[in-house]
Amino acid sequence: MSDTVLSVRDLRVVFETRRGTLTAIDGVSFDIARGEILGVVGESGAGKSVTGSAVIGLIDPPGRIAGGEIRLRGERIDNLTPEKMRRVRGRRIGMIFQDPLTSLDPLYRVGEQIVETIRTHTDLSAKAARARAIDLLTEVGIPAPERRIDGYPHEFSGGMRQRVVIALALAAEPELIIADEPTTALDVSVQAQVITLLKRLCRERGTAVMLVTHDMGVIAEAADRVAVMYSGRVAEIGPVESVVRAPHHPYARGLMGAIPTLSDTAERLTQIPGAMPRLTAIPPGCAFNPRCPNVFGRCRAERPEPLPVDRTRVACHLYDERGEAA
Ligand SMILES: Nc1ncnc2c1ncn2[C@@H]1O[C@H](COP(=O)(O)OP(=O)(O)OP(=O)(O)O)[C@@H](O)[C@H]1O
Ligand SMILES: [Mg+2]
Repeated sequence: MSDTVLSVRDLRVVFETRRGTLTAIDGVSFDIARGEILGVVGESGAGKSVTGSAVIGLIDPPGRIAGGEIRLRGERIDNLTPEKMRRVRGRRIGMIFQDPLTSLDPLYRVGEQIVETIRTHTDLSAKAARARAIDLLTEVGIPAPERRIDGYPHEFSGGMRQRVVIALALAAEPELIIADEPTTALDVSVQAQVITLLKRLCRERGTAVMLVTHDMGVIAEAADRVAVMYSGRVAEIGPVESVVRAPHHPYARGLMGAIPTLSDTAERLTQIPGAMPRLTAIPPGCAFNPRCPNVFGRCRAERPEPLPVDRTRVACHLYDERGEAA
């Protein structure tokens, strides 16, 4: 319990639109422990990025957190002022996005950006901060870091640039890193290297990681636990061995039908017939019911809440002993 870094409880995120209030995240709960990587998977639009944005306090209007709690080391962070949240983001939560240029300013040398982050969060001198930045660049596998530290982002390849972003994310020694599709834009050949690196560095430092990805190969390689999201809810969450190798939820079973390895990432999720409902047309009961091979009456009427099943939690009436009757 004391090892819990991030705790999300009953999170609800809505978007106010002309067509009314759309609920994008509806009752999502999960924890991430120190040094643990939680993989978050699910089809496009399932709510993976919105959940990550809620944690880092970057949901833009017309979106807002409409319910639930987000705690970092026990302390509420979902209700902080923008100024306080900015500080939490810089110091305690690091971010890695699909496009490295979201994190890197093209107008500044990479070293300046890392040094600035280090100096904002520590009392190191300029010289010591530069030495620390070179150490970080060495750690993330940038060749000739004493020279490359003075390069601009565009002078790095995509894979090297994402390594710089990892160095930047780690520079403030955050407790938590939110990584949203960190390798999707990279060549397949370097994806595995970048994931392996992220995993090793976070293990060593005890950093908790929320790793959002479409790539089951990345999940199988890097995640300790996995959350499968569907239509703004967690369908199943548990240890990677259980959720990937022996999933319970019919949606998770469909997703895990064909697990590509890291060297074969061309194959993506989405082998399940049909499509996830739009936010304007989420069916009553279980949102997966129109596509579910195991659907029965109760699924069309009553929304399943996550229940413990083996080592996982599953939101599916199939696993509720009360079955059809309830
Ligand atoms: N600014 C916005 N206004 C209205 N709806 C939004 C907005 N941003 C996201 N949404 C909706 O919230 C839902 C969840 O989106 P989200 O980006 O979290 O999906 P995702 O799981 O990250 O998908 P992908 O795999 O494509 O990145 C989607 O239905 C999306 O259309
Ligand atoms: Mg996304």
